[in-house]
Amino acid sequence: MGQRLSQIVLFNGDIMAGDSQWMLPSEIYDYLCQKFPNGGTILEFGSGDGTAILSQSFEICSVEHDEEWAKKVVTPCHFIPIIPNEFSTTHQQIGWYDVEQVKGVIPEDLDIVIIDGPTGTIGRHGILSIVDFLPKSAIFIIDDVHRDEELDLYEKLLQWHGGKGLIHTAQYESGEIRQWASLSPRGVEQT
Ligand SMILES: C[S@@+](CC[C@H](N)C(=O)[O-])C[C@H]1O[C@@H](n2cnc3c(N)ncnc32)[C@H](O)[C@@H]1O
Repeated sequence: MGQRLSQIVLFNGDIMAGDSQWMLPSEIYDYLCQKFPNGGTILEFGSGDGTAILSQSFEICSVEHDEEWAKKVVTPCHFIPIIPNEFSTTHQQIGWYDVEQVKGVIPEDLDIVIIDGPTGTIGRHGILSIVDFLPKSAIFIIDDVHRDEELDLYEKLLQWHGGKGLIHTAQYESGEIRQWASLSPRGVEQT
């Protein structure tokens, strides 16, 4: 079966192209561009077609568990394998990126952390192993919080972060509802 490629027009007129089932909802691009009109630095967990879109406006460093996907991305993308992780195990998940390797690629002066990987079938709770290496001054985006596991992760990250959390609703092209969450430091304009 062929890949479902689609094109979405962003608020600034740019065209987003790729398989929208896998990409971040376009609302996240709009949200980040409005919050950071002069760009910024992103650490993205889970790369894909949407990474190239983000790179038009941001410096982006991606972490990717699938070597094939890591090769497809033209921006800096670190292939980091999935290994056992204590938080993953606690949440009956397979594992997470090798924590020691992740610690070695976290950019300085990070503005945004996007949690969109690894795939939901592997699980994303392993990020809780490295939160103390991530700046609370950053905005965190957690995709797929319409799913129970990602919603639980968002709630745990919110508790750690102590900032303002918001759940945003969007739609897949099919019309099905999808949700993503933002965590902002207190004092930052919160929408
Ligand atoms: C939800 S995707 C990440 C999507 C990415 N943040 C974006 O906006 O394009 C999570 C994982 O699925 C894989 N993946 C990415 N795009 C895919 C696609 N079009 N089809 C199948 N797998 C994909 C990659 O291994 C990625 O780490």
